[in-house]
Amino acid sequence: AEDGYELWLRYRPLADAAAQGQRARFAQLVAPASTPTQRAARDELLRGLGGLLGAAPSTAEAPDRDGALLVGTPASLPAIAALELDLDGLGAEGFAIRSTRVGGRAATVVAANTDTGALYGAFHLLRLLQTGQPVDALDIRESPRVKLRVLNHWDNLDRYVERGYAGESIWDWHRLPDWLDPRYTDYARANASIGINGTVLNNVNTSAQALTPLYLEKTAALASVMRPYGIKVYLSARFSAPIEIGGLPTADPLDPAVRQWWKDKIDEIYRTIPDFGGFLVKANSEGQPGPQDYGRSHADGANMMAEALAPHGGVVMWRAFVYSHEEPDDRAKQAYTEFVPHDGVFADNVLVQVKNGAIDFQPREPFHPLFGAMPKTPLMMEFQITKEYLGFATHLVYLGPMYEEVLRADTHARGPGSTVAKIIDGSLEGHALTGMAGVANIGVDRNWSGSHFDQANWYVYGRMAWDPHASAEAIARDWTRMTFSTDPDVVEPVVSMMMGSHQAVVDYMTPLGLHHLMGRGHHYGPGPWVEGGPRADWTSVYYHRADARGIGFDRSATGSNAVAQYAPPVARQFGSIDTVPEEFLLWFHHVPWDHPMASGRSLWDELVTRYGRGVDYVRGMRRTWSTLEDKVDQERHRQVSVFLGIQEKEAQWWRDASIAYFGTFSRRPLPAGEAEPP
Ligand code: GCU
Repeated sequence: AEDGYELWLRYRPLADAAAQGQRARFAQLVAPASTPTQRAARDELLRGLGGLLGAAPSTAEAPDRDGALLVGTPASLPAIAALELDLDGLGAEGFAIRSTRVGGRAATVVAANTDTGALYGAFHLLRLLQTGQPVDALDIRESPRVKLRVLNHWDNLDRYVERGYAGESIWDWHRLPDWLDPRYTDYARANASIGINGTVLNNVNTSAQALTPLYLEKTAALASVMRPYGIKVYLSARFSAPIEIGGLPTADPLDPAVRQWWKDKIDEIYRTIPDFGGFLVKANSEGQPGPQDYGRSHADGANMMAEALAPHGGVVMWRAFVYSHEEPDDRAKQAYTEFVPHDGVFADNVLVQVKNGAIDFQPREPFHPLFGAMPKTPLMMEFQITKEYLGFATHLVYLGPMYEEVLRADTHARGPGSTVAKIIDGSLEGHALTGMAGVANIGVDRNWSGSHFDQANWYVYGRMAWDPHASAEAIARDWTRMTFSTDPDVVEPVVSMMMGSHQAVVDYMTPLGLHHLMGRGHHYGPGPWVEGGPRADWTSVYYHRADARGIGFDRSATGSNAVAQYAPPVARQFGSIDTVPEEFLLWFHHVPWDHPMASGRSLWDELVTRYGRGVDYVRGMRRTWSTLEDKVDQERHRQVSVFLGIQEKEAQWWRDASIAYFGTFSRRPLPAGEAEPP
């Protein structure tokens, strides 16, 4: 059934003519299978080539005919050693793919320094075939630009997934460690195919139980499934664990007994899972425990854990998403205020994990001011793949353009060209330890992500973690070809739907820099009126601050002055109503309703127009998708159609509710041709 379970690894037969040529080119597979990772690569190639070409290649110990595919390392395969390829500079995870001759016969070689590199190369070659690219004269060298490419599961031990819209957690803790659901292997395959090499199994708002021996044994079982695919497991660690499961009276990071407890716990973890990755920590945020409970700093807390992890090669990913809802200062400023003073104080194996924007995974945010402001500390990007504020799994929103926009943003930290991508890949400040985290959108739904198109967000996240300079559009094209069809009459319309879908959700939810207007708690539908009244950190009415004069949150020098947290050229640009890009206008300024916009319209008219534009885009996607009825299998076509119908209704709901509400402040008529909300 076309239920989406296979994700982008469908391996459906290539068109006949293409398959015939490729069958000859990949007639024989020479790939050692003496380690689990080698077996994973070989199995994947047999499965993939078998599916794509209609017949799996024969296997041999050494190439003895035209059309051999050699996969391995100089150590694992003598024929590869004999080629004396230059594998320097590929590192432990890179690979080379070459069309060449071996013993006078035509061959294709996938070579790497490690089994994992060869596995990545195998997936890369399969992708070339899946996406219909030429494979006759290959000369590819690839290696990841980011070291830690991890998924963060916000999965509780009772299988509830916080902000998960794809069913319950895939981790079946109850039946672990004995029952290893085959889904775990498919999960590992999918991740390895896009280069993800780490997974944090449990939620950041975690229970300390995850660190008890019972659960460590279960985690070890999952690690054994992930290991062949180059994936390390990590755990979220609750800061108060020494009290909750250790029986200590305190979790003060400077208390010797507490330090010893963590050291012993970490030694115990490594006895159970020798290649354990390390900890992810959410501390002193949203009521979670942390070092500040004892008058200590984030660095004190992180360094305590880092010290115990270091001898084992583990890392601490310490989150910078910190705020307290009792804090009346602009929430957008809190992370910078708390973290920048500690730059240079964190231990070498600590990364500070920063959300893309300073508020919270909004449809659009300016890049987080911490990027560029902590040159001595490796900063990890934290993207959210699950669409907490972007219509959950029912709205079709491709996140590639949003990730790209943030990664390409220029922090000016070291002059022009200091992009966020260069901070994440370590090149700007010379960090070797680098990372990117994506909050997973995975659950037990047959299609894993709650909708077919949400698989693209998992996919693009992995590809951008591998290369933060990659193009969202090129990745959308690959994904579409692998997932739906290589027919250009499908690829072009689908990619164009995807590429405009992020701007559309911004338009119909939070245009022009508005943010956090979603219903309180669930974050799904519109709620700019704030059910239950304002909270201290929302500083008066939510963040939109609409009044008779205008709308928007003044973060310029006349307001919270959050702009001052950016490098001077950026602060100047964002800080002036005349130079701030319109997409961030209301993020940084409180703007009069009649303010003239670039379009020539007043702000109020522009706002209404943007809401309508968002709804129109969704209508357009429905029309486009309906033309593909004969080109996409019925099962997937139908679900996408129905979801687009839901999205259209809800985009309209957002538009009508927002306009009706803001209209009570603006008291201006709608521009000509715009329908009054019901
Ligand atoms: C958001 C989200 C929470 C989550 C938090 C975090 O606020 O709504 O569910 O715990 O982010 O990232 O820690």
